Amino acid sequence: TLKFKNFIMKLIFLGPPGAGKGTQAEIISKKLNLKKISTGDILREEMEKGTELGKIAKSYMEKGELVPDEIMIKIIENNIKNLNGFILDGFPRTLNQAIELEKITKIDKVIYLNVSDEEIKNRLLNRGRLDDKPEVIENRIKIYREQTQPLIEFYKEKGILYEINGIGTIEEITKRIEEVLYER
Ligand code: AP5
Ligand code: MG
Repeated sequence: TLKFKNFIMKLIFLGPPGAGKGTQAEIISKKLNLKKISTGDILREEMEKGTELGKIAKSYMEKGELVPDEIMIKIIENNIKNLNGFILDGFPRTLNQAIELEKITKIDKVIYLNVSDEEIKNRLLNRGRLDDKPEVIENRIKIYREQTQPLIEFYKEKGILYEINGIGTIEEITKRIEEVLYER
């Protein structure tokens, strides 16, 4: 595939839990030299450090609930300040977050990784993160459907949504994403 230097874009990776957002964001961020901002990772770091934010986040994350919008928007504001390119992994996750993000910056493309519920459950049960317990996975999927899925339509209407089949090998999916990114 082609490799572009100075390929500066503001991207969102959207999709259900276990879709491969983090995996692909990591690969693409290295390839294109874009900063990756993973809200889940940021919150888990705070949890490990035992900060006030970490304690608040834990109470939501262990149940598979969303951390309140005000907290998440502040985190994003602090992290994307002065960046002209980035990949957001795990944000926005609610319509309100998406609307607030629009006030901060303009997104170029939204990569939506589409993966079936069955595949998600298999992947997450095999991983075993703190929130990868069967009941918590069910809740994360439910919350995704209620709160995050409406963002697909939101970005489709803006003409910046790119749907990618998220089933296949990691390499295959990276290729699919790259094709869409290099497309004008
Ligand atoms: P977050 O950390 O974002 O978790 P998530 O969205 O549930 O998604 P995952 O990280 O589980 O999946 P992923 O899509 O990144 O897939 P991955 O690459 O890891 O959020 C956790 C919690 O934080 C939330 O529940 C919420 O409480 C809070 N939070 C975060 N952001 C928030 C926000 N904006 N607002 C409010 N609250 C927020 O892959 C999954 C597994 O599959 C891995 O084991 C991987 O190795 C494997 N895999 C990847 N690709 C493939 C493939 N192609 N084939 C087979 N296996 C694969
Ligand atoms: Mg992730």
